[in-house]
Amino acid sequence: MANIIIVGTQWGDEGKGKIVDCLTEKSNIVARYQGGHNAGHTVVIGADKFILHLIPSGILHKDKMCIIGNGVVVDPLALIQEIDELKARGISVLGNLKVSKNAHLIMPYHVALDLSKELKKGNKKIGTTGRGIGPCYTDKASRSGIRMLDLFWPEIFMEKLRANVADTNYMLKQYPDVDKLDADKIYKDYISYGEILAPYVDDTDITINEAIKQGKNILFEGAQGTLLDVDHGTYPYVTSSSACAGGAMTGLGVGPKCIDEVLGVAKAYTTRVGEGPFPSELTDETGEGLREKGAEYGATTGRPRRCGWLDFVVLRHAVRVNGLTSLVITKLDILDGMDKIKVCVAYKYKDKLLKDFPKELPILEGCEPVYEELDGWSGHATAGVRSYDKLPQKAQDYIRAIEETLGVPVSIVSTGQDRDDIIYKKHS
Ligand code: GDP
Ligand code: IMO
Ligand code: MG
Repeated sequence: MANIIIVGTQWGDEGKGKIVDCLTEKSNIVARYQGGHNAGHTVVIGADKFILHLIPSGILHKDKMCIIGNGVVVDPLALIQEIDELKARGISVLGNLKVSKNAHLIMPYHVALDLSKELKKGNKKIGTTGRGIGPCYTDKASRSGIRMLDLFWPEIFMEKLRANVADTNYMLKQYPDVDKLDADKIYKDYISYGEILAPYVDDTDITINEAIKQGKNILFEGAQGTLLDVDHGTYPYVTSSSACAGGAMTGLGVGPKCIDEVLGVAKAYTTRVGEGPFPSELTDETGEGLREKGAEYGATTGRPRRCGWLDFVVLRHAVRVNGLTSLVITKLDILDGMDKIKVCVAYKYKDKLLKDFPKELPILEGCEPVYEELDGWSGHATAGVRSYDKLPQKAQDYIRAIEETLGVPVSIVSTGQDRDDIIYKKHS
């Protein structure tokens, strides 16, 4: 094992949580580097299903340290609830979980702003999760954010809070349906959250760098995906953080030389939840079939996910901007039973053939997918297969087509929800 970044290569929900859980066994620390409780990472162990939003997906393993890095935005109440839910299910969290002092806090005014801005945008809305993520990162970048450590400096906290609440109430005047925010109530609530979370708060940059020095194995857990990254995604239809591999450095305070591998998780097809361009989207029965068979409903909001074929233009972009060393293909079993499987190999824009993901929104919106048709493996199944040579030949051909087109090896294939439905193709 080594220090590995796990990153989503599409629009999120690729199955990162499952892969992180599987790789935790050989790691010492699992560390989240960005995003917030907009994420929903599912781990299935036998009859038990866990959906993690803020806490790294390694928490289900005993005696592994989990870190919520400075790059994550933390809603303290959501974190307390997640800790309590895990505790109620017999998972030990205290002692295993550390939260960065520098992590910015999602405040009630961030949620109010997120929801009201979306309402105001009407049909131009982003389709956010409504968790206050964007406004929290906005405050961070504009240097008016409140961090975890502020909860332990009550006077400074109150001063910042009053200023922010006054500003927000001024902004919210344009939304007559939104209630004014009360700084005193927020203060009282947040000080009490600080008391509960105090045992978890840590100088995580020091903790993680000490561990790296000692040769420990770190798993860096990304949330969202490459196409939702604020720099490399389908801007403005993105989230507000650096979901790509580069975010792991700033989001935890580690240097790039400590990274050994970057694993890009890709579903065997593509999904997206929320608004924004999606060239290989299927709005027909095939898309509906993928949604139903793949249970493609958001783990955080329950919204139906938009579904489509695997898109090599998207994946080529993800390989490049993340420096992927290998790919993980999940949900191969959902393609079981199909006679033919299409893959998007390029986009057609007017009379041009594009192999690289276009940055201009109007071009992207005007692109038609160019498909190649591959044979499916209907009559054979991949569901639950746990060794590569037991996969149907046509499924192996599908994996090989991915490797050859992208020039990156596939190291892991996932064939079911369960922790054990996994094939390590090359990975140790
Ligand atoms: P994440 O956000 O990237 O962690 O992914 P989500 O948990 O939001 O969505 C992935 C969904 O697919 C979850 O319900 C997983 O349990 C499920 N899943 C992951 N890998 C596989 C797989 O190989 N086959 C099937 N059928 N389901 C999978
Ligand atoms: P995981 O980690 C899929 C999407 C939202 C919306 C956009 C912006 O489970 O893969 P935000 O609330 O972040 O401001 O919303 O990003 N989005 C996700 N889509 N998986 C996620 O996380 C997502 N987190 C945010 O649907 O389109
Ligand atoms: Mg998810």
